[in-house]
Amino acid sequence: MQIFLRNWETTDAPRLYELAKSEKVALLTGFSPHESIEKSGKIIQTILHKKGHYAIVLKQTNEIIGNIGIEEISPEKEDEHWKSGELELGFWLGEAYWGQGYMKEALEVALDKVFREHNAKKVWCAYQEENKQSQKFQEKAGFVYHHTKEMQWNEALGYFYSLVVNVMTKEIYEEVRSVY
Ligand SMILES: CC(C)(COP(=O)(O)OP(=O)(O)OC[C@H]1O[C@@H](n2cnc3c(N)ncnc32)[C@H](O)[C@@H]1OP(=O)(O)O)[C@@H](O)C(=O)NCCC(=O)NCCS
Repeated sequence: MQIFLRNWETTDAPRLYELAKSEKVALLTGFSPHESIEKSGKIIQTILHKKGHYAIVLKQTNEIIGNIGIEEISPEKEDEHWKSGELELGFWLGEAYWGQGYMKEALEVALDKVFREHNAKKVWCAYQEENKQSQKFQEKAGFVYHHTKEMQWNEALGYFYSLVVNVMTKEIYEEVRSVY
């Protein structure tokens, strides 16, 4: 493995800002581009410090290259498909690190946590309909299409988009793992 996961530290704010100020990374993931090191520090304290968010670190340089989060669906996000307490994966890599297989490795570690530590039966993963790179990535990783949520309002971005929701069940996970 070329990467490892670790908890975010407040001192990671400058590096987070460096990576997350990119409009491409932010908009594809669904957050607004970071505006300053101070704001990145606040995001670490309020969001990334929450249980389940991990910095993806390149072993060779010890540098953070992205984030992967295993979040519980909150009661406000509950709907006919999503139940409160179920797990959802979210992730992004800094632009310079796309297309090199790093997220595949990070996902492997995260899925192990989902299905072995949390003992979950399934995990959700969604992407904005236009995000073809995440679509390809998720499909290659074994996620399966489940439903599409039309006209989702993103407060941070200030626009509507369609969210394509994929799922990976424990059965799919075990099948995919046996092929590795
Ligand atoms: C989506 C993402 C996590 C995939 O991780 P990755 O390690 O780059 O994954 P892969 O190397 O398997 O690449 C997946 C696809 O991205 C596309 N891609 C890779 N590098 C790219 C680049 N520099 N520019 C545009 N697309 C690129 C390719 O189409 C690739 O598919 P292919 O293998 O058929 O060529 C990563 O590209 C990323 O962080 N993107 C921006 C944020 C984001 O979309 N997050 C997910 C929100 S749901």
